[in-house]
Amino acid sequence: MSADGPLVLAVESSCDETGIALIAGGRTILSNVVASQTALHAASGGIVPEVAARAHLRWIVPVLEQALDDASVQVDDVDAVAVTHGPGLAGSLLVGINFAKTLAWVHDKPLVGVNHLEGHLYAAWLRDANRDLPEEPVFPLVALIVSGGHTFLVEMRDHLTYRLLGQTVDDAAGEAFDKVGRLLGLPYPGGPAISKAAEAARLHDAAFPRAWLGDSYDFSFSGLKTAARRTIDEARANEGLPTGGRADTEPDARLSEAAVAELAWGFEDAVVDVLVTKTIRAAEDVGARSIVLGGGVAANTSLRTRLTGEAEAMGIPLIVPRPALCTDNGAMIGAAGARRYAAGDRASLALDASPSLPLARR
Ligand code: KG4
Ligand code: ZN
Repeated sequence: MSADGPLVLAVESSCDETGIALIAGGRTILSNVVASQTALHAASGGIVPEVAARAHLRWIVPVLEQALDDASVQVDDVDAVAVTHGPGLAGSLLVGINFAKTLAWVHDKPLVGVNHLEGHLYAAWLRDANRDLPEEPVFPLVALIVSGGHTFLVEMRDHLTYRLLGQTVDDAAGEAFDKVGRLLGLPYPGGPAISKAAEAARLHDAAFPRAWLGDSYDFSFSGLKTAARRTIDEARANEGLPTGGRADTEPDARLSEAAVAELAWGFEDAVVDVLVTKTIRAAEDVGARSIVLGGGVAANTSLRTRLTGEAEAMGIPLIVPRPALCTDNGAMIGAAGARRYAAGDRASLALDASPSLPLARR
């Protein structure tokens, strides 16, 4: 036990980042090491599950050593070992779970299973050691989590209790960014590349459809992706380029930079518009006193700026962790794991991977 409360060693391996962190008192990051596989998957333009699992296996021990070293602690010092047990890729999850179980068993520590989505929410409570405490989310809150694998809106009235308000019925928001980025011939992952390209747009006249799905808080991005494919083909035809193919397989037949910028802007604007509008409506409906934004897409400047402005207009704070805490990492699992540990949650050493683990049911 540290002066700040329990010391948790947390392991995250649900997708393509191997993350291990040491978290004190559920909030303070003593260390947070992430081995990212982005470069590894860039060649195939997406994640190959078996390649991801093998990369976790390769990197998990060095990541642990670095995390212990950075925090100047030993495994025997920790109060609990927390690990993501779902949702995620089965092979990737199994590497982290088996590793965490072994640590817990060998060092006789309690094991705590954490839902990856809960981890993204709890990133909002993290703070860096030796820095002032940032604003703490206040309940009731509405949280929008948008990443390559998930897109959902949830209400929290207290710790560890969730009411799912809506989720994507098809692609995740980040996935849509990645797919449209590929159609535009931009590098993987598409999210940051689209965001960067959009900054160069001057006309701001590319109009993409919004899927409102009536009054529901659900999201859909597949229609937008189809519309993007059609619009990109039209723009290519206008420039006398071949259509219907993936732009990245025809590097010599790329759309002009100006056209890419306009299309990237139009697509981003449509995604951000729907995400912000639904989040603000949800916050009004539940009488939220704060809004939390998380997941890899929270790194998007346009999304952050618009949501900050609208939350300000409502007179409530928007809490967005710094970008490295929005993408997958061990610290967020440690923050959620510390809450679960304090609430008495213990996983058995028979803990298994749950690739489709839901956060909460309506
Ligand atoms: O949370 P994350 O690292 O991994 C998952 O759990 O999925 O999110 C990765 C996703 C990718 O789809 C990536 O394109 C997207 O986040 N992303 C962005 C930006 N930065 C990352 N999307 C839009 N704008 C960005 N600036
Ligand atoms: Zn994630």
